[in-house]
Amino acid sequence: MANVVAENLTRVFETKSGRLLALDSVSFEVQTGEVFGLLGPNGAGKTTLIRILTTLLLPTYGRALVGGFDVVKEAKKVRSIIGFSSSSERVGFDFVTARRNLWFFSQLYGTPTGEANRRIEELAALLEFQDQLDRKLYTLTTGYRQRLNIARAFINDPQVVFFDEPTNGMDVFSAKKVRELFVKEAKTNSRTIFLATHNMFEAEEVCDRVAIIDRGRILAIDSPENLKSSLSKPVVLFETDIAGASISDPTRLDGVVGGTIKVDNENETAKIRVILRDEDFLERVLQLLEKRGIRVFNYQRIEPTLEDVFISLVGAGFAERERGIEA
Ligand SMILES: Nc1ncnc2c1ncn2[C@@H]1O[C@H](COP(=O)(O)OP(=O)(O)O)[C@@H](O)[C@H]1O
Ligand SMILES: [Mg+2]
Repeated sequence: MANVVAENLTRVFETKSGRLLALDSVSFEVQTGEVFGLLGPNGAGKTTLIRILTTLLLPTYGRALVGGFDVVKEAKKVRSIIGFSSSSERVGFDFVTARRNLWFFSQLYGTPTGEANRRIEELAALLEFQDQLDRKLYTLTTGYRQRLNIARAFINDPQVVFFDEPTNGMDVFSAKKVRELFVKEAKTNSRTIFLATHNMFEAEEVCDRVAIIDRGRILAIDSPENLKSSLSKPVVLFETDIAGASISDPTRLDGVVGGTIKVDNENETAKIRVILRDEDFLERVLQLLEKRGIRVFNYQRIEPTLEDVFISLVGAGFAERERGIEA
């Protein structure tokens, strides 16, 4: 069953500098039991889309259904069957225990106390913070507090659960637990998990399908596997001496569709990762680098990542997009 349906969803913001099209006629469906990701750089429109689907913001045009309910006309019904958590929000009462905080949230949904207590124990076990349940919130480390925030989104046994950048700023272990929980909750409890992220690793690791979003538009939507295999162009990684850092924009190299440069100042090396128009341009790029006095230690064709898919669609990487660089 389609648990989330968006039809031509559009959101315009009136700003001082004019009309801003934050979402541009977005349409898609997400099924029950699916972990679905919105992947795109900061400013792409992910939070705007999640805010509309969670009834916190009205669309300018278009329509959306969550669990079969219209997010505008049946907002109350939608709220009763969803969970939501955003890493940018600090939620809860500091001088109350973790357990009591979770219980308060369960009461917003009218969950019977016995059932609420059972769920609190279960979620705390899954996210490994049982030993923190009876501590006051302000004494919890950031990682535990963040895990509690994730647990809170599941407290009402939701049909669809939305997460906005769930593991942003989270320690590696907590993030791992959270990602495992997403997959488990989708598969064993038949929930739809809908998450926004700019973390490609996360999208690849947990999502059944990913929508690549940029400037309010969905550019591609498919499984991570299919997205990557749809990229027929070769991705090549050149490891160079520090002079490689002088190439500030790899897309200017002849035969290059897009790319990124990572400079390692400590080891005085640079990694230039480029998507070539086709294989024939490899020789050309090597010559160009040599001409500029850049020593290439090593180069190899590598498996594409989701960022390469993004680059091939947009002509720029996430970092460039976030700095407002035009392709
Ligand atoms: N309340 C608002 N008023 C004006 N512009 C907004 C508002 N909310 C978001 N935007 C703009 O809409 C675009 C999309 O933002 P957002 O949905 O937050 O992106 P993301 O979550 O992908 O980083 C950005 O250009 C942002 O500045
Ligand atoms: Mg956001």
